[in-house]
Amino acid sequence: MKIGILISGGGSNMIKLIESCQNNKNASINIVISNNPDAKGIEFAKSKKIKTKIINHKEFTEREDFDNQVNNVLIENKIDFLCNAGFMRIHGEKFVEKWFNKHLNIHPALLPSFKGLNTHERAIKSGVKFAGCTVHLVRSGVDEGPIIGQAVTSISIDDDKESLAKKVLKLEHKLYPKCLKLFTEKLVKVKNDKVIFSDKAIKIL
Ligand code: GAR
Repeated sequence: MKIGILISGGGSNMIKLIESCQNNKNASINIVISNNPDAKGIEFAKSKKIKTKIINHKEFTEREDFDNQVNNVLIENKIDFLCNAGFMRIHGEKFVEKWFNKHLNIHPALLPSFKGLNTHERAIKSGVKFAGCTVHLVRSGVDEGPIIGQAVTSISIDDDKESLAKKVLKLEHKLYPKCLKLFTEKLVKVKNDKVIFSDKAIKIL
């Protein structure tokens, strides 16, 4: 399986995905695309000799043109599966259709709660006692789609948005590679948006 990763920033999740595919004969990370020319993750990918491409969304007036450019690069590189790892752009419906059931996203909250931005701040303000992260298949609604995996931590009275973000990011780094593995090893099936987990998948999660 040839995997593409979309990033916008630091790329710490991307690093974990890259590391998890090293020495994997079923899967390889073949390209990392960033919409942000200053994304730090690009340098790490380069250092691992992974092909990188900047597609700056600011150079496009229409979302669809940006999406098409991303899609063209993925097709040119014969990508089979896509992972958003801190990718901060919304995909148009056509793009979502093209990668249907072959496209994961990680979100730093326990979906379906706290979709969108500033998740940690909103979670603390709301008074919820647990936070976490979710890996899900991408659908056209923001942070919507069948859930593959979640990981949970508690919110303590001392937590602020920074400390909570750190705790959750740690969980993300463990969860995302496991969820990707379920696809690279074909341990899950998706039928009518229901995810069917094999016994082996359940053990991995
Ligand atoms: C991660 O916490 C990820 O879940 C979040 O951005 C951070 C990126 O960190 N993604 C979103 O909020 C997407 N809606 P990273 O660049 O170090 O992986």
